[in-house]
Amino acid sequence: MSEPDYSGGLSLADAKKKIGDREIYRLSSNENPLGPSPKTVAAMTTAARSINLYPPRDAAALRAVLAAQHGVTAEHVFTGAGGCEVIELAFRQFTQPGDNFIVCPPTFGFYYLMAKRYGLSLTEVPLVPTTFALDIDGIVAAVTEATRFVVIINPNNPTGTCFPDSAFTELLSRLPEHVTVLADEVYFHFAENPHYPDTVAHLMRGANIIRVHSFSKAYGMGGMRVGYGIASAPVAAEMRKLMRPFHLNAIALEGAIAAVGDAEFVEQTVQNNAIGKAYLQTQLDRLGVTHWPTDANFLLLETKLSSGALTDALLLEAVMVRDPKDSAIPNCVRVTIGTPAENAAFIAALEKILATLDE
Ligand SMILES: Cc1ncc(COP(=O)(O)O)c(C=O)c1O
Repeated sequence: MSEPDYSGGLSLADAKKKIGDREIYRLSSNENPLGPSPKTVAAMTTAARSINLYPPRDAAALRAVLAAQHGVTAEHVFTGAGGCEVIELAFRQFTQPGDNFIVCPPTFGFYYLMAKRYGLSLTEVPLVPTTFALDIDGIVAAVTEATRFVVIINPNNPTGTCFPDSAFTELLSRLPEHVTVLADEVYFHFAENPHYPDTVAHLMRGANIIRVHSFSKAYGMGGMRVGYGIASAPVAAEMRKLMRPFHLNAIALEGAIAAVGDAEFVEQTVQNNAIGKAYLQTQLDRLGVTHWPTDANFLLLETKLSSGALTDALLLEAVMVRDPKDSAIPNCVRVTIGTPAENAAFIAALEKILATLDE
């Protein structure tokens, strides 16, 4: 098993230690370049005045607005401290040491941490090389009696790939009853593909799915640690039993409720992303740099430099990107789509670095 760990990228403070106290373009963690919604900030500021009071025990008000948004009931929704906790709750509740789950690399390193932490065997069924499509035959063949989850990240991190409903439906139809699809959809707001699957519809038809969401991406609230899951009512109820009472703090709760209510801000975020994506794709084409279609707020690109060398060289130009540290894509880096100024700074830095290779 290859082991892309979940050490994440450099913090801003670490980056500044390396290159000094200058303006740094942080395009390494898929955060919202527009910040949080002003309505979120206002709601959190108001909530801060009452933090002498305990928050609601069970995030019921947040679950209600999320349920309305997704067309489910609050019984189908559970919350967590970020998408990562939502994922971890699923592993805690539904696996025993020795169980198995399947991931499709290149993928998100946190799942490897779950395997280690919960004593699970992890089977890798790589995405099809170069297209990054799902290898459905490979996934089905890899399933054993011990398999609990198939993890489908859609759009996928770090490739940005959208797996269409046709693939998702086929996968569901070929998995045995004892396997649940962990549908990690933390980037779903950015998906432009008209064939993006409606996993809630599949869930409502009885498919075994736990859908994972985050407030860290389109809602711009990574620092607050809020996430949620959608599952069948019995599964969601089991997940809620795992939560400590008062598990989301009052400021996070109010901020998240305001974020869900600010559709205009999400729209702005998605629009900024679409504009930035088109710009980056055009510029990468101009520079002759290979890149992959993306339905997320980042894109994967490949140069002649190793992932580590390009990541380091860009940092010296004050641009932070992510080295996926995956031996299957040794010359690829993942760059978050930023503001127009951030995107331009990234392209200028990349162009400068690539020019030195031609000398
Ligand atoms: C695919 C994927 N899932 C889950 C998460 C977890 O996000 P968070 O814990 O910030 O909500 C991330 C974060 O980058 C991610 O990329």
